[in-house]
Amino acid sequence: MLPAYLPNPAAALFGGGTPIDFGRNYSDGRRFFGDGKTYRGLLLGVLAGIAVGLIEIRLAATYGFENLPHQTFTSIIVLSVGALLGDLVKSFIKRRLGKERGSKWPVADMYDLVAGALLLTLIVDPSWLFANITLPIFVFILILTPVLHRSVNIIGYLLKVKEVPW
Ligand code: CTP
Ligand code: MG
Repeated sequence: MLPAYLPNPAAALFGGGTPIDFGRNYSDGRRFFGDGKTYRGLLLGVLAGIAVGLIEIRLAATYGFENLPHQTFTSIIVLSVGALLGDLVKSFIKRRLGKERGSKWPVADMYDLVAGALLLTLIVDPSWLFANITLPIFVFILILTPVLHRSVNIIGYLLKVKEVPW
């Protein structure tokens, strides 16, 4: 799941600049996505996810890791792209609910990337998904995600990368 988990913190670190919605509003008068979703964050986030995935592929080729899921070029791309698409869809819905950029939306703010990554993988490469994300691994992802989310956001806040610790 590293290629899915890394894009968000990478976007927070390296993102900024032109917002994906170019500052435009939806028909409800609120922003499409808001200033927190930028082209640079999307691009550099996806590149970070793919980079860590390539490292995983390299390590697996060197050391075997017989009992671990094996990444493929397709899986690392769909996990990374899916994670940030999930984040984008989350922001779109968040704006429609009238929640401001950066405001707290407890469950959605954590599982957006997991839902996006796994759904895109289901669409593009279902055989990889079912072979690698077995039920126990899926349950483990559901448990690990809030722990990682909370830890990384607190670190981001302390490093002043994020304005809020969530
Ligand atoms: N970011 C970015 N581009 C993206 C995703 C994230 O530039 N596609 C950066 C933004 O600087 C953003 C930060 O990463 O503020 C943290 O991301 P996130 O928490 O998802 O955004 P929020 O600012 O909280 O906005 P929202 O309320 O829409 O979730
Ligand atoms: Mg946020």
